[in-house]
Amino acid sequence: MQSDSNFVFVLFGGTGDLSMRKILPALFEAHRAGMLNPAGRIVCVAREAWDQGAYRRWVEEHVKPHVSKDGLDDAVWRSFLERMQYVGLDLGRAEDFVLLRDTLAQYDGTRVFYLATGPKLFVPICRALSDVGLNQNARIVLEKPLGYDLKSSNAINDAVGEIFQEEQIYRIDHYLGKEPVQNLLALRFSNVLFEPLWRREWVESIQITIAEELGVEARGDFYDNTGALRDMVQNHLLQLLSIVTMEPPHSMDSDSVRDEKLRVLRALKPIDERDISRVAVRGQYHAGVIRGAAVPAYATEPGVRPDSTTETFVALKVEIDNWRWAGVPFFLRTGKRLADRVAEIVVNFRTVPHSALGANALRAGANRLVIRLQPNESIRLYCLAKQPGEGMNLASVHLDLAFDQFFKEGQMEAYQRLLLDVIHGRLALFVRRDEQEAAWRWVEPILNAWASGTSKPKPYAAGTWGPAASSAMLAQHGTCWLEEEN
Ligand code: BG6
Repeated sequence: MQSDSNFVFVLFGGTGDLSMRKILPALFEAHRAGMLNPAGRIVCVAREAWDQGAYRRWVEEHVKPHVSKDGLDDAVWRSFLERMQYVGLDLGRAEDFVLLRDTLAQYDGTRVFYLATGPKLFVPICRALSDVGLNQNARIVLEKPLGYDLKSSNAINDAVGEIFQEEQIYRIDHYLGKEPVQNLLALRFSNVLFEPLWRREWVESIQITIAEELGVEARGDFYDNTGALRDMVQNHLLQLLSIVTMEPPHSMDSDSVRDEKLRVLRALKPIDERDISRVAVRGQYHAGVIRGAAVPAYATEPGVRPDSTTETFVALKVEIDNWRWAGVPFFLRTGKRLADRVAEIVVNFRTVPHSALGANALRAGANRLVIRLQPNESIRLYCLAKQPGEGMNLASVHLDLAFDQFFKEGQMEAYQRLLLDVIHGRLALFVRRDEQEAAWRWVEPILNAWASGTSKPKPYAAGTWGPAASSAMLAQHGTCWLEEEN
């Protein structure tokens, strides 16, 4: 599929980590797949006073290692470099923005300004763009984290909102661009099988885990001022929760899905600060071993304060106050340096209301659906079956669906999908301001309680599944995390 939308993609933070690892490789993949208009230009902006040659050398050295080597053709790579142009720019110098405007004046097409910079720079960049008239007929992409709490996120949204209309603003949450997350919508809303059971009458509890083996890598300084609640829960986990629990949208247009997600976010049962220790667990990793290799404690990572109380693990019990979900516990969990890299959703169904097969039958378990988002996207449906032989003894068995056996090609990275959506003006997979506000509002009591209290994150050894308190929280509800069953 070749795009017919001409564009000029202006990447602020063009020499940063995100550009190097994600954004430029994703643009390259779209280019290689013939999905970008041949006339489309990529203008990279950063503060280094480099000429075109120096920037191309940087791309060659830092970006190329992050693109897939499968069928990497020199001519295609060169034609990608030819789309690119570098503009060195000092944010404090108005004349540099005049230069940027003059550079962009040579090109036709929709202007996309992608701010892959820290949030502190969002407003100054938007103002400077507006001062030279570059906010007209343009789209602006804002990377997370958008602010630090509700107040600071509102301040950014207010200021950006004075310069760009909401329909021009694309707030990225890369989880929404992941193929398996898209597939959740297909699973829920294109199969009659699940939807009638997808409610409090039949669902006992739901777990959503995003576990990482990686630590904070080179981002210690950023992470230490952020923590897992802001980095993963306020955005990725709450977005996943809302996709899992929302009502069927009327269509897939930009607002139908976002309206339904918003309803869920607004229906999250507010957390009372006095209840925090019952419904929220925070942890911080200590030294440990992952896949046979020793890894250091969080507090000794570069950029991290040695007495840091920043959480690298969060587990939460969440409730949704609406007819479909009242009373069903949702357990959300995320952490760095855990035992495995996995993102999955576990739907635990209730046992049958009456077992004609006797009490033993109920002991064998209940139906369960495990949706593995990454790695190796799959769906596993657990059922009860009779064990062969005499008597009626039941065992849990499963039906497996591994997506890579059905779809051999055509997979698209999250950033590639989202960048193409921006170029095409499709907003559905971007977070609307009201969703973001509702998510901040909900996490704020937890942030406040952790910031003001005297308690510290609970330690856990790297390479484990987090502090014991996380398992204890589920045990209070008569359940456990999926891996604890095996
Ligand atoms: C980012 C977080 O948004 O998501 C990172 O800032 C985290 O800390 C990353 O590692 C995880 O994304 P993925 O796609 O690797 O699961």
